[in-house]
Amino acid sequence: MRRLGLGKKGLEHQIEEVAQELVQIFAQAKGQPLDPMLPITNSACNVICTLAFGHRFSLEDKEFLKLMEALESGFKFIGSFFHTLYEIFPFVMKHLPGPHQKALLSIETVLSFGKKEVERHKEHHSLHEPRDFIDFYLLQMGENKDVPDCTFDDENLSQAIFDLFLAGTDTTSGTLQWALLLMASHPDIQDKVHKEIEDVFGSSQIIHYQDRKKLPYTTAVIHEVMRSKYVVLFGLPRRTTEDVDMLGYFIPKGTTVFPDFRSVLLDPKEWETPDEFNPHHFLDKDGHFVQREAFLPFGAGLRACVGEQLAWIEIFIFFTSLLRAFTFRPPGVKELNQEPVVGLTTHPHPYKLCAIPTSYP
Ligand code: HEM
Repeated sequence: MRRLGLGKKGLEHQIEEVAQELVQIFAQAKGQPLDPMLPITNSACNVICTLAFGHRFSLEDKEFLKLMEALESGFKFIGSFFHTLYEIFPFVMKHLPGPHQKALLSIETVLSFGKKEVERHKEHHSLHEPRDFIDFYLLQMGENKDVPDCTFDDENLSQAIFDLFLAGTDTTSGTLQWALLLMASHPDIQDKVHKEIEDVFGSSQIIHYQDRKKLPYTTAVIHEVMRSKYVVLFGLPRRTTEDVDMLGYFIPKGTTVFPDFRSVLLDPKEWETPDEFNPHHFLDKDGHFVQREAFLPFGAGLRACVGEQLAWIEIFIFFTSLLRAFTFRPPGVKELNQEPVVGLTTHPHPYKLCAIPTSYP
């Protein structure tokens, strides 16, 4: 991931293009109520296509739409009752009818989508100038081909591509959906973001990720969206390798441990108003951005999110592009629902908002 080049010509530039496409889609609604979920999720998925395959798809491409449909069905299934049953009794469930059958087909669709791309990469021999995740993985496979029990193989490559889609689409999409909902619900905060962007960049200059230090308030807002509306509730499981005494609790060797991110993100000892959306959690008295130790939405340690850097770039570029182009308002007088729907990730309930072009009077 580190070698994938998040520089100007690399992924970052492509993310800027995907963000512009997203702005165009919002603009087509001409300020009328729109549901932002699908366009945002498609764009986040297209970023993963760029990362994994080195190219993205037209949002009308039939293959791409099939991939999106399969992913959606997979997201809905994971964490559901039938998924739990399937995990406990896979051999029995494989032969029984139920929603898990559709989900298993969808998983197969995503895996075979990845496999087709791997074959294309092998045919085009682009390994002398690796550009994407598949290229780097195939290089690694070549370098390790004589290593006994090496885990770099075709099977694991398509599984790793699947994991990138699974972990990298719904998380960034959910974060951006929350960000727009919170902007529409807090017009005073949205105005400050607009003003900061306008003061620093005017209306013509392109905003790059490197520019984020010039936008402390906007950066604080993005952090506060991720703190207050954390999209991942629990980290991946770990197992203790020795007996541990921690804060008066004894945890024996071999215990499975799931980090609960709310224990830090909503800790009243760490945050002034833990249950409120308050960007000042990340600002000092002079308005400078401050990093906080308890801000851990990507987890911590060796198993922390591998896509963190990409996620930051994506969220910053999408958010600033959208906020620069539009003012977001709820479609009526009713407040937008801020309760989360808890699934594989935590999302807002389906909602609509009006994206009013900022160039309108
Ligand atoms: C807002 C965006 C995101 C959030 C909040 C997020 C959060 C997380 C968290 C909390 C974990 C578990 C870490 C732990 O247990 O300590 C994780 C794992 C992971 N994330 Fe992300 N993530 C985001 C975006 C992404 C993106 C864009 C990608 C892909 C490019 C990605 C790929 C992964 C993968 C592959 C894992 C599993 C790593 C492993 O198996 O050890 N994530 N993420």
